[in-house]
Amino acid sequence: MVEIAPSILSADFTRLAEEIAAVEHGGATIVHVDVMDGHFVPNITVGLPVVRSLARATQLPLDTHLMISEPGRYAEQFVEAGARMVSVHVEADPHIHRTLAAIRKKGAKAGVVVNPATSLSALDEVLQYADYVLLMSVNPGFGGQQFIPASVERVRRLRRMIEERGLETRIEIDGGIDLTNIEKVAAAGAEIMVAGTAVFGQGDPAGAVRGLLNATAQLV
Ligand code: DX5
Ligand code: ZN
Repeated sequence: MVEIAPSILSADFTRLAEEIAAVEHGGATIVHVDVMDGHFVPNITVGLPVVRSLARATQLPLDTHLMISEPGRYAEQFVEAGARMVSVHVEADPHIHRTLAAIRKKGAKAGVVVNPATSLSALDEVLQYADYVLLMSVNPGFGGQQFIPASVERVRRLRRMIEERGLETRIEIDGGIDLTNIEKVAAAGAEIMVAGTAVFGQGDPAGAVRGLLNATAQLV
């Protein structure tokens, strides 16, 4: 089942609750929150207090994408703040097995994130401990970047890896997702589509979510 996870990075931060209500109205079922520390990635966004506030503002599951160094120090705090999904970059955490286990123990879904230039073989030993893999289809740090076309093949290969191992791991994709590529990544096996600019960039977030969902509707 395809789900749309609007990234609030491209929303109007003075009206986050309204923006989230609008995308929910359009059919979004997850809210993607990009946490950046200015260290792991060259940009700073939001942290725990904003996640705490968002958890009060919506019933939708909050999906926190941690683009931070030493994610193991903070992952559990994001669950305590109200995140129902927490993902950690494989490039940022030498003890990712421990971090994923800690997220699950707190009661949230644990995700592993891979950058576009990271080999999928980096997932070999951790795939079985993750509820989902977040494949980056741009280099993390900013919204509004162009989708890297090789990502479609990476989704396909990851889907094969998951099936060969008989796992239930879901695939989420993030970066440059829009009407021109969503059908391709869905057909390749991605289920959770993060979209920032494509949802909040046109002035009609509910309609944009509806459009993205419709674009994948005939695939089922
Ligand atoms: C990029 C973030 C993305 C970003 C997506 O570092 O992880 O979630 O907000 O935005 P778009 O859809 O504009 O590429
Ligand atoms: Zn993200």
